[in-house]
Amino acid sequence: MRRVLSLPSWSARPILLGLWVLGACQPVAHDRVPAMSDQCESCHLPEYRSAKNPVHEGALPQKCAVCHSTESWIPSEFHHPWALTGAHAKAQCTACHTGKPPKYKGTSTLCVDCHKPQYVAAKNPVHESALPTGCEVCHSTKAWTPSAFQHPWALTGAHATVACNACHTGTPPKYKGTGQQCVDCHRKNYDSSPYPGHQSFPTTCQDCHSTKAWKPASAGAHPENLFPIQTGAHKNIACATCHSLPGVTSKANTDCVQCHAQAKYAGKHQDVGGYPTGTAPANFCVSCHTDGRVHDN
Ligand code: HEC
Ligand code: HEC
Ligand code: HEC
Ligand code: HEC
Ligand code: HEC
Ligand code: HEC
Ligand code: HEC
Ligand code: HEC
Ligand code: HEC
Ligand code: HEC
Ligand code: HEC
Repeated sequence: MRRVLSLPSWSARPILLGLWVLGACQPVAHDRVPAMSDQCESCHLPEYRSAKNPVHEGALPQKCAVCHSTESWIPSEFHHPWALTGAHAKAQCTACHTGKPPKYKGTSTLCVDCHKPQYVAAKNPVHESALPTGCEVCHSTKAWTPSAFQHPWALTGAHATVACNACHTGTPPKYKGTGQQCVDCHRKNYDSSPYPGHQSFPTTCQDCHSTKAWKPASAGAHPENLFPIQTGAHKNIACATCHSLPGVTSKANTDCVQCHAQAKYAGKHQDVGGYPTGTAPANFCVSCHTDGRVHDN
């Protein structure tokens, strides 16, 4: 807010007089010529001309009373029309009001008008042509780092410490339209997973994985309706114990015979037609016991 041009308060008069009586300072003209006090410049033009910090001449209005009381020049009573917060409070007037004499009117309030060089130089993360130029969305005037930026997509687990440009690839990095599905970025991990039969799993990784780490996988994604592992004989068996047939990518990448030796169970199937006697795949039990249970028929 610009301070309105107004007469200085004359309540200061007795104070000045008091100071004078106490001999604290030399007699000043102020208490003898109060009527002229709205024309400070008629007596104080030399001070105006020599003022260096900030430079006044040709830059600030000559209406001293707008910014000064009669008590002292420093500090001034000037209320800057644009809040000087954070690092701006300590900046020299002439750092923003450049030129000789400095220009005050028409100074831009847009961050980027003064901070374009920092924007261009920013490397971590790269800003130029990648981030919007409305710095205030992500930065305060205190310091550039840390930024107040709220990432629009929760960066949880391992993602919290991943460099921006690992996800926002390219030169300059692309931000808009970054894939949000796990598989958009983790296809390679999926394809190269040493865990057998991954390609038989859906690509919605979050069904079985959190962003913390691939191992251990979280349970809960098993098709209980088809083959229960939360109840019955197959409770508490680790996923990889059953799904352990390398190269088998179908749902039946399950090794049953490691626990149920073919020969051992032959005896139980003497009345059952079709129980194999020769070589059989390691998951042959599942073709008859599709849910891993015995049913009376
Ligand atoms: C728009 C506001 C403004 C106006 C108008 C203004 N000044 Fe100032 N002046 C300031 C500010 C701000 C300072 C710095 C105060 C500080 O450092 O706390 C200052 C400082 C000064 C100083 C000390 C300068 C130095 O280099 O140490 C003098 C002397 C001064 N002003 C005189 C004047 C006189 C005389 C006038 C009128 C003819 C005037 N000012 C008008 C804002 C103003
Ligand atoms: C008729 C002349 C005259 C007018 C008008 C006048 N002054 Fe002064 N002012 C003086 C004189 C004389 C002194 C004391 C000598 C000196 O310090 O230079 C002084 C001193 C000052 C001082 C210095 C105090 C100090 O401690 O160093 C300030 C600040 C000041 N005046 C501000 C103002 C302001 C603001 C106005 C307008 C509201 C004003 N003066 C109007 C003559 C005037
Ligand atoms: C960090 C940058 C910055 C600093 C430091 C700064 N200013 Fe400003 N100043 C501005 C901006 C921006 C405006 C424009 C505000 C607006 O138009 O709303 C402005 C406006 C002004 C104006 C009003 C100009 C007009 O007539 O419209 C004056 C006078 C002024 N500043 C004086 C000063 C003085 C004196 C200092 C030092 C004490 C200072 N400024 C320090 C950025 C700054
Ligand atoms: C009129 C010019 C101007 C405008 C507008 C401006 N600044 Fe500044 N800013 C400066 C100056 C001058 C400095 C001090 C010198 C420096 O460190 O660059 C500064 C310093 C800073 C700093 C501290 C830099 C450091 O290295 O510590 C930050 C952060 C900052 N400004 C952020 C902003 C933001 C955010 C905006 C927009 C809301 C903004 N600035 C608008 C001129 C400006
Ligand atoms: C979309 C958010 C966003 C916007 C908009 C943005 N920044 Fe940043 N900026 C960041 C983030 C995030 C950082 C990293 C902060 C950290 O490391 O804590 C950063 C860091 C910086 C750094 C330090 C870079 C380095 O390499 O050390 C500077 C300087 C910077 N920003 C300047 C700017 C300027 C100037 C603007 C406006 C022209 C701007 N930023 C706009 C998010 C943003
Ligand atoms: C683990 C991956 C990942 C990391 C790390 C990451 N981002 Fe993102 N970012 C995303 C995803 C996913 C989106 C969402 C895209 C969408 O909503 O369209 C996104 C969105 C954004 C957007 C909004 C783009 C827009 O306009 O829609 C910005 C800006 C952004 N990120 C900046 C950053 C910055 C700066 C960093 C580093 C501090 C960072 N990101 C780190 C994945 C990441
Ligand atoms: C925009 C790209 C992107 C998206 C989307 C994404 N990630 Fe990531 N993720 C990364 C990057 C980059 C890394 C770090 C490099 C690496 O380890 O692959 C990472 C790391 C990880 C890690 C740590 C890997 C390790 O070796 O420690 C896990 C676990 C992970 N992500 C899981 C997920 C899951 C689950 C989802 C879906 C909810 C997901 N990610 C979505 C990019 C992404
Ligand atoms: C139906 C559940 C399921 C789905 C869906 C799934 N995974 Fe897995 N994944 C597992 C299981 C179970 C393991 C073995 C973890 C263990 O040993 O604790 C595993 C292991 C992995 C490993 C190997 C970790 C290692 O170092 O041994 C990677 C990499 C992996 N998954 C990536 C993915 C990716 C990427 C996706 C999505 C595109 C995905 N997975 C989808 C269940 C799943
Ligand atoms: C006792 C053996 C066994 C254990 C332990 C087991 N599974 Fe399964 N799983 C199977 C069998 C058998 C099927 C096939 C069911 C069907 O489709 O009829 C299957 C099917 C699946 C399917 C569906 C595949 C598809 O293509 O439809 C997923 C996903 C799966 N298992 C993931 C897991 C995960 C994750 C774990 C650990 C939490 C796990 N399994 C533990 C035996 C097991
Ligand atoms: C980690 C060892 C292990 C694996 C692997 C395993 N089972 Fe079992 N299974 C058991 C145990 C223990 C029992 C209970 C004792 C028994 O009946 O032999 C059992 C019982 C059974 C039964 C009888 C259940 C009932 O209702 O009485 C069937 C049928 C069966 N398993 C089928 C399968 C099939 C099909 C697979 C492969 C997809 C499989 N099992 C893989 C350990 C395993
Ligand atoms: C050709 C189909 C077929 C195959 C292959 C097969 N079973 Fe069976 N199994 C049956 C039938 C039919 C029964 C009689 C009960 C029933 O109908 O569920 C039975 C009964 C059982 C019983 C109960 C026996 C008893 O003592 O009452 C067990 C345990 C069993 N099977 C486990 C297995 C295991 C383990 C495998 C693989 C090593 C396997 N079966 C392979 C069809 C099959």
